[in-house]
Amino acid sequence: MKLLHIDSSVLGHHSVSRQVSAAIVDRLKQATPSLQVVYRDLTQTPLAHLSGSHLAVAQGAPAPAELGPDLAASAAVLDEFLAAGIVVIGAPMYNFTIPSQLKAWIDRILVAGKTFKYGATGPEGLAGGKRVIVAISRGGHYGADTPYAAGEHLETYLRWVFGFIGITSVEFIPADGIQLGPEHREKAITGALQAATGLRAA
Ligand SMILES: Cc1cc2nc3c(=O)[nH]c(=O)nc-3n(C[C@H](O)[C@H](O)[C@H](O)COP(=O)(O)O)c2cc1C
Repeated sequence: MKLLHIDSSVLGHHSVSRQVSAAIVDRLKQATPSLQVVYRDLTQTPLAHLSGSHLAVAQGAPAPAELGPDLAASAAVLDEFLAAGIVVIGAPMYNFTIPSQLKAWIDRILVAGKTFKYGATGPEGLAGGKRVIVAISRGGHYGADTPYAAGEHLETYLRWVFGFIGITSVEFIPADGIQLGPEHREKAITGALQAATGLRAA
């Protein structure tokens, strides 16, 4: 089985979500050594934002030559996603939601006819059967009992996106309160790393 590992934090070695996503992959790989891991770093190799030209090509217009490399990257990203049985994502909260690098990736995998379609009763997901595990790191706390709950557009957004394309197995491992001081940070990271080691095997 293939495991696609994606990181999107811009903070490199200081990143919490990268540390936790790596621990998730380590845990799954240890439990199932035959897993084939494919890694994509969305900050090292960013995807461009969608443009009018992309949409025109998707509607059947001839592809302009200058879009060639980008369309090839887009196809590679989609193929990688479709081939994976497990997808592990490192997703930090930036300004209440996912980083724009991760949004650019989502724009390349939500493709009508490939990962969803419009059926007689509305949209239908075509990418079911995958397991998605997301390491999320947030500076504050966004639980339902906090005043910030309405500002949470990271976990809720990703759950919706993957649900839209038919993926119901979405697990979140949160590291929260990262910006509330060193003790909070340490506790959050330790808890998330522990949760990673407790994940069920692939
Ligand atoms: C540009 C930027 C925007 C941020 N916006 C938020 C935010 O809206 N809410 C929040 O709780 N934390 C916010 N933070 C804090 C991060 O969520 C926190 O530091 C987290 O650990 C980032 O994940 P990373 O370490 O993997 O990059 C922000 C951090 C950065 C760098």
